[in-house]
Amino acid sequence: MAELNSSIILLLVVLISTHLLSSANEVYNIAEYGAKSDGRTDSTKPLLGAWQAACGSPGPSTVHVPAGSFLVRQVTFNGPCKSSKIVIRIDGTLVVASDLGRVGEWIVFDHVEGVSVFGGTIDGRGASLWACKATGRRCPGGATSLTFRNSKRIMISGLTSMNSELYHVVINDCEGVTVQGVRIMAPGNSPNTDGIHVQMSSYVTITGAVIRTGDDCISIGPGTTNLWIEQVNCGPGHGISIGSLGKGYDEEGVENVTVNTAVFTGTENGLRIKTWGRPSEGFVKGVVFEHAVMQNVRNPIIIDQNYCPDNKGCPDQNSGVKISQVRYNDIHGSSASQVAVNFDCSASNPCTGIGLQDIKLTYGNRPAESSCKHADGTTSGFVVPPSCI
Ligand SMILES: *[C@@H]1O[C@H](CO)[C@@H](O)[C@H](O)[C@H]1NC(C)=O
Repeated sequence: MAELNSSIILLLVVLISTHLLSSANEVYNIAEYGAKSDGRTDSTKPLLGAWQAACGSPGPSTVHVPAGSFLVRQVTFNGPCKSSKIVIRIDGTLVVASDLGRVGEWIVFDHVEGVSVFGGTIDGRGASLWACKATGRRCPGGATSLTFRNSKRIMISGLTSMNSELYHVVINDCEGVTVQGVRIMAPGNSPNTDGIHVQMSSYVTITGAVIRTGDDCISIGPGTTNLWIEQVNCGPGHGISIGSLGKGYDEEGVENVTVNTAVFTGTENGLRIKTWGRPSEGFVKGVVFEHAVMQNVRNPIIIDQNYCPDNKGCPDQNSGVKISQVRYNDIHGSSASQVAVNFDCSASNPCTGIGLQDIKLTYGNRPAESSCKHADGTTSGFVVPPSCI
């Protein structure tokens, strides 16, 4: 009997430990794949090696980037993966290799599911490209720092992205993305350094972000649905923008966007919707902007449907993008220009269902103003400057 008991216990121990091993989190440290934390040795191959191991792992797996600075060239982490839960834990910094002539993208995740990036810093070293652009000479195209494409169940948490040549983070064709506690930094005069760009994606949540750049804080492109933005701090930069939309005719619409609790400091715009002044099937529907503080913002509330840079490709045309159900609630603070609320909608497709509630925007010691073209909707609570819809 005693012998039988002990063999049963042994069997149980074997079963349990086998189970624990197979579901254990396999950690792939890039240093073990030859990466050097000196900021000079090319660590692209070790990083890819660790990714491939993690991706091929049957259970949950982790790619670990230890402390230190790692030089990385253009790199694409391709799925699909065997592992359905992959963590990229970054303690150190990934620094882009300064091979001028880079085009398009630096770090890309494509066709992945269940990938989380925790912590770390990525440094796009954009200064030399910005300096080139400032001279007006012909310059290389530059690269977006971090892109997620064709992916699902993604988390980006606690990441710092600095000095991207172009956009810092792009989410394209994704479903279910959580971006939390990220910090994005580039100088206020750096060109095209948008913070986070979302397009053709659904169920993206961005919370607790601090974004200081030379372009849009968060930009929202065609085909974005069910986007939630909360507790975001923007500035310097161009603010949060839905658009530009409607450059193409067959463009997908934007539906269900919420911006809840945001602070804009010294930005060009606060809450903006921007469309090209040309024919399009696009639309913007179901937007809630609430609890926003404006500090010295040039255009705190703006809809601009007459975007047409250099008057090329759209003179004398109206925007086809239909804007409806856009609610502004509890927006207050200071405008840096007299027109604090500006609805410049399309003559052929007027804005409908605009709601203004509890708005208080000031312009120094002078009264701020509202301006409306082709805008229809309702107001409630106090609205200062007085509404023109
Ligand atoms: C937008 O939200 C409404 C109300 O919650 C919902 O009925 C609709 O399906 C949503 N649209 C999309 C594209 O998910």
